[in-house]
Amino acid sequence: MNKIEDLVARKTAIYQGNAKAIEKQHSSGKLTARERLGLLFDPGTFVEMDTFVTHRCTYFDMPSKHSPTDGVVCGYGKVDGRIVFSYAQDFTIMGGSLGEMQANKICHVLESAAKVGAPVVGMNDSGGARIQEGIDGLSGYGKIFFRNTAASGVIPQITAIMGPCAGGAVYSPALTDFVFMVDQTSKMFITGPDVIKTVTGEVVTGEALGGATTHNKTSGVAHFMARSDQECIQQIKRLLSFLPSNWKEQPPEVDLGDNPYRLVPELASILPDNANRAYNMYDVIRGIVDGGDYLDSQPLFATNMITCFARINKRAVGIIANQPRVGAGCLDINASDKAARFIRFCDAFGLPVITLVDVPGFLPGTHQEYGGIIRHGAKMLYAYSEATVPKITLILRKAYGGAYLAMCCRELGADVSFAWPDAEIAVMGPEGAANIIFRKETPEQRAQSIAQYKAEFATPYKAAEHAFVDDVIHPAESRQKIVAALEMLRTKEQSIPKKRHGNIPL
Ligand code: HXC
Repeated sequence: MNKIEDLVARKTAIYQGNAKAIEKQHSSGKLTARERLGLLFDPGTFVEMDTFVTHRCTYFDMPSKHSPTDGVVCGYGKVDGRIVFSYAQDFTIMGGSLGEMQANKICHVLESAAKVGAPVVGMNDSGGARIQEGIDGLSGYGKIFFRNTAASGVIPQITAIMGPCAGGAVYSPALTDFVFMVDQTSKMFITGPDVIKTVTGEVVTGEALGGATTHNKTSGVAHFMARSDQECIQQIKRLLSFLPSNWKEQPPEVDLGDNPYRLVPELASILPDNANRAYNMYDVIRGIVDGGDYLDSQPLFATNMITCFARINKRAVGIIANQPRVGAGCLDINASDKAARFIRFCDAFGLPVITLVDVPGFLPGTHQEYGGIIRHGAKMLYAYSEATVPKITLILRKAYGGAYLAMCCRELGADVSFAWPDAEIAVMGPEGAANIIFRKETPEQRAQSIAQYKAEFATPYKAAEHAFVDDVIHPAESRQKIVAALEMLRTKEQSIPKKRHGNIPL
């Protein structure tokens, strides 16, 4: 065998893998690391890095254990024509467990991607820290956390959980911008069901504890949920299409053939006659954005708040909107966290922020106060105030009190602010106000005072008179006005005071 034949034989063995382990992977409903990478990248563009790396552990039975690739396949290639880096843990090799050399490979990917300004997609499928490597595996996670943090805000970082992900292994995904999970086959938890049972006596299944539904609906750890590995990778590619490669670049412009200046007549009749009745904010979003097309982030978590990507006049934007159908669109702890993190992502990567407001207020109650709604709501105020991307606010209906302020009011830096004629912009709703300032009045006087309050304050015109909104617009003109504002703001520059970094309430 000459040296080239030897090289080919070595590489073939690595690429082929262990047939029995691959069979087990497939029978558990999962693709292999190489199959996943094959679906992510444009055909023929993937270039593998550190193919021959293997472990160098001398403890336990490790000297006899062969770990080709050391359980992670790394490299770069093109996704829809743009460079993307990726690593995919290979569960067929020592359960994808992470030791010193696997961690070094992942760090190499993160460093290279940050250096050239390209997104990273991590595909996790691993038994966690490689037990035989002891502290070296732990150290590996530490190195990854450090690099995830250094790359935060520099390049988009996306993690797909496609198998087990336990212990400290969950923290690298949590440090990245978006977490995808595959239903049934993926799990994330700090301590698994067995440890929980031993320590607290609580009995819970792995799925209920850390499955895709739990993290997409209840904990808010994950942002997207897929039914299969294939669907998960398709979703990742769609998300990437809205994102720039790094903080200095613009996302690709996509022309869906939608006239930017079209009117949206259906918006004129979308609000119910009764201001206490709900409507679907997604209908408003669909009407305004190009081709009615949007990508919802965390669609199952804190559903009183919508955070989604879309395109307006070909440019990607982030939309933050109250959903009157869920809890009247009130702001609460989870909604505040969801919105604040999304706003910060958009700001870090230069996506204009469009805020659609219909919010009766912050949710009252001991549960919210004890849970720290003050601290969580403050995140929204902070995130909007520090964001320097173009900020456009449209008030559809209710905008009361602190929630008016929290939904990107003029004072938090909205560059352009519009209201529909039904907007009610005031300190509080008429009934709430009556209970305080008209409580000593007779019922007749009180009814008259409420009517007067409604006429004077539950309108957009006081706000327009005081220049808190730029204009009161016909709802059908909403898209046109937002398109014009985005065009005007294209060259927006705003400096922030020099400092080490701010201190967002956490
Ligand atoms: C070494 C591991 C491993 C690990 C799995 N394997 N996890 N080897 N270290 N952490 C090996 C198994 O020994 C087995 O090797 C192969 O991978 C496949 O594993 P199976 O158990 O056969 O697969 P399955 O039945 O599907 O179960 C998967 C699993 C289970 C649920 C992930 O393997 C498991 O519970 N592993 C341990 C999880 C864990 O506690 N990890 C440590 C977390 S603490 P063979 O040779 O038999 O094929 C942690 C700290 C990090 O990560 C802190 C960072 C700050």
